[in-house]
Amino acid sequence: MDKLKLYNGVEIPRIGLGVYMGLGVFENPEPEKTVNAVKWALEAGYRHIDVAAAYGNEAEVGEGIRVSGVAREEIFLTTKLWNDDVRAGTVKEAFETSLKKLRTKYLDLYLIHWPVEGFEKAWAVLEDLYSEGRIRAIGVSNFKRHHLEYLIKNFRIKPMVNQVEANPYNNNQELIGDCKNLGIVVEAWSPLGGSGGNLLGDEAIRAMAQKYQKTPAQVVLRWNLQRGVVILPKSLHQERIISNFDLSDFELLPEDMELMDGLNRNLSAGTEPEGVIH
Ligand code: A2P
Repeated sequence: MDKLKLYNGVEIPRIGLGVYMGLGVFENPEPEKTVNAVKWALEAGYRHIDVAAAYGNEAEVGEGIRVSGVAREEIFLTTKLWNDDVRAGTVKEAFETSLKKLRTKYLDLYLIHWPVEGFEKAWAVLEDLYSEGRIRAIGVSNFKRHHLEYLIKNFRIKPMVNQVEANPYNNNQELIGDCKNLGIVVEAWSPLGGSGGNLLGDEAIRAMAQKYQKTPAQVVLRWNLQRGVVILPKSLHQERIISNFDLSDFELLPEDMELMDGLNRNLSAGTEPEGVIH
């Protein structure tokens, strides 16, 4: 229940900690925030951390893992290849840099962050790294159905994961259905609606939280889990990190799943960087 199986047999914990600090690309002025969040999450029982080269805090994730005392092999660790390296074709160099910062010899999952120009060539390099055993699973992020179909048609290895925005205000239902049909596991970024949004203040969500005696965040996260989506909530607060992981003692009824589905507004909590191929 607490893990899903990717099509290559690798197990992925269904709840991971997201660590994007909401700053510009490669900006990370308060390193201790990441170190603490990772340490608290691992103490709370998380065994899945989701970072990206562009978040600027891979070294702090590595440090958080180190100070937690949890063995590396117990943790499912993901990072992402940034757009500049996709465009420049410097995939191997970027991969080695990420490993060094994270202080690890391998990744559990490596994702192409956005489908920018050159993603096809980058995919071939990820395939090689996977075949060499340096990454346990490879995937993509923010890919639309046509990008996925292109890779499936033209390459040896089908992506194992697609990480996209998924929360009740932007539920991405159609793409999630497509991924399910293609055998690709979906991970949700901004499962709580992001830092600027007001999803958690939504009347319907607050009422549902009261009905189940849970927090708005917990009912929103539970909805995604019940759709079969891996969730990557982020928080800098220890009590929230703990409660966002505490989702196993209740279940949303079918009518409440439907109610949550009905809140969709196709309202994105994030922005797409310039140059993304649509
Ligand atoms: P904070 O770091 O101050 O806790 P998402 O994961 O959808 O991108 O959203 C993360 C945002 O939601 C963060 O700004 C985080 O802020 C906030 N957040 C995380 N967990 C909770 C929670 N349990 N209740 C309220 N807000 C939360």
